[in-house]
Amino acid sequence: MFELIRRDGLGRIGRLDTPHGPLETPALLPVVNPRLVTVPPRELYDAFGFRALITNSYIIRNDPKLNARAREEGLHAMLDFPGVIMTDSGTFQSHMYGEVEVRNEDIVNFQRDIGTDIGTVLDIFTEPDWSREKTAHAVDVTMDRTAEAASLKGKMLLAGVVQGSVFEDLREDCARRLALLDVDVHPIGGVVPLMEQYRFADLVDVIVASKKGLDPSRPVHLFGAGHPMVFALAALLGCDMFDSASYAKFARDDRFMFPEGTASLQDMKDIHCHCPACQSHSYKEICDMGPADRAALIARHNLWASLEEVQRVRRAILEGDLWEMVERRCRAHPSLLSALRRLSRHQDFLERFEPLSRDNSMLYTGPETLSRPAFLRYERRFFERYQYPGTEVMVAFEDGGKPYGRHYQQQIAEVLNEFDAHFFVASPIGPVPIELDEMYPVAQSLFPEPPDRETKERIREQMEHLSHEHPYSLGVAWDGQATVDTLAMMCQKEPSFNVDIARVRAVSDYQFGKGAADLLLDGKIEIKRSETTGKIRNVLVDGEHILSMRANDGFFTLRPPGAARLRRGFASPRMRVEVKDDAVPFNREGKNVFCAFVNSCDPDLRPMDEVMVVDRNDDLVALGRAMMTRDEMLSFRTGIAVKVREGIKK
Ligand code: GUN
Ligand code: ZN
Repeated sequence: MFELIRRDGLGRIGRLDTPHGPLETPALLPVVNPRLVTVPPRELYDAFGFRALITNSYIIRNDPKLNARAREEGLHAMLDFPGVIMTDSGTFQSHMYGEVEVRNEDIVNFQRDIGTDIGTVLDIFTEPDWSREKTAHAVDVTMDRTAEAASLKGKMLLAGVVQGSVFEDLREDCARRLALLDVDVHPIGGVVPLMEQYRFADLVDVIVASKKGLDPSRPVHLFGAGHPMVFALAALLGCDMFDSASYAKFARDDRFMFPEGTASLQDMKDIHCHCPACQSHSYKEICDMGPADRAALIARHNLWASLEEVQRVRRAILEGDLWEMVERRCRAHPSLLSALRRLSRHQDFLERFEPLSRDNSMLYTGPETLSRPAFLRYERRFFERYQYPGTEVMVAFEDGGKPYGRHYQQQIAEVLNEFDAHFFVASPIGPVPIELDEMYPVAQSLFPEPPDRETKERIREQMEHLSHEHPYSLGVAWDGQATVDTLAMMCQKEPSFNVDIARVRAVSDYQFGKGAADLLLDGKIEIKRSETTGKIRNVLVDGEHILSMRANDGFFTLRPPGAARLRRGFASPRMRVEVKDDAVPFNREGKNVFCAFVNSCDPDLRPMDEVMVVDRNDDLVALGRAMMTRDEMLSFRTGIAVKVREGIKK
């Protein structure tokens, strides 16, 4: 069983139960060649702290001595490794050296019999230059073999490999078919040539296509991904496991791996690496070593560098800045930058997993930042959901200090003193009505000064889009006193624009969907503010406390009377997570909703969305925040689906 512990978009920290205990992901599994041990498995476990490795059952099976030992002692004793052992099947040997002399049934049985934790099907390695027909046929054979393996696996976890070469539809179809089989882990296979040729943009398409079809509750392994420079990108796309033979192969060629790329010893002029392997050796000492000692040292360096990067990815997921990390890492090589740019093709898919808000600010790292799903989300929600206030005039400010309302306080007051107007800021995120200035990511994003061409162009496009949509009879760009003078000649109406009411309305519609503000705010509105910050804290309507505004991201938490209004106005399943009968009493007590108890759910929920937990009669049971999308809630068998903030007693 796999459990989702934390997430940042598709990136996740998880826990996979195996016969040798739980495996925390993201996890890197060093490849151990049982005939050519570079770093002993015991050292991997004790000194490095690796809790899983991968070895090759095909090599063990074909070596009479190893075969006999593995059968007698078991794989873990033979390798002297107490952690999780995954085995591969011989597919890669067939890719490298042609036909292999083994049948799927035999190699699966062998893996099971020697006590592998995670065994692999004898899939067919689909090469990037294969025709569509050849690839489709290989996928069919792989599917048949996976079904056969599932019937043989016993207690062993089974890795069912997604193949399909670079044909996105074949990948997705293969993944969908695999999701129906009793398989535990999904490696994405056939990608080594793409990585070797630095075709990282194609790798992005392949991973996304595979993820689209797979069951979200199963961990995904990127087969053969062993270079730290791809870990962050692959994790962002939802890969949970990696394996590396490269650490040893690169070491034999005197090549050091870093998250920024590879460096050959003969090109390096110095090394200042603080990893335990390099630490006590000068550059000259390393150069003067014999080849075997040097390879041993570099292999260890490569492992430390890889391990450190996996830990760094984990931290980024915890802290909510995986996007920033990926954007920085992808500047290491133009081919990685191509991959980063390729993500913009998949914005729609990525947006479904994008949390409503993050703890961290959104930092601009370059033009690719503008293609993040958070931007697509803002643009879409603004243009689809925003209801303009009824003023005749709109004044647009340039992007400036944040929050915008405070930055332009004086100018706004000057205009409002004399006439009825509304205000927008031409922000890189999109057109921001002044009342949305505290909402994530408007206030919580940082851009460099001056803006680059791409940012200027985006602002221009967005403001042009606004100019086609807005209902004002007059829109002017703020130009100081000249603007006040122009407006004085044209309009005299009394000011009616109330920024507080506008804020509550605009955030409601943006967060809960079009029409939410009308439902929530029908009645006499009263706004309570924080005494220290002056920010909106609570919203009461007809004396009932319906909403509280969060100071950190400017979104609302829903109070029971507010939920009652939305539940009456929005038909099921909108904003709902329906739970099974057994769970209802617990959730009414304020306990979290676990995946196993979710009956059905709003398909449009995003992680961190406010949700109403309801029973089968659509009675309100609890309020909280969704931790997952609908598909995730329905496919995970364990883990928290909704963090409940408040149970509703009967
Ligand atoms: N190792 C690297 N790529 C692959 C693959 O596609 N299939 C298997 N079984 N092992 C691999
Ligand atoms: Zn080092």
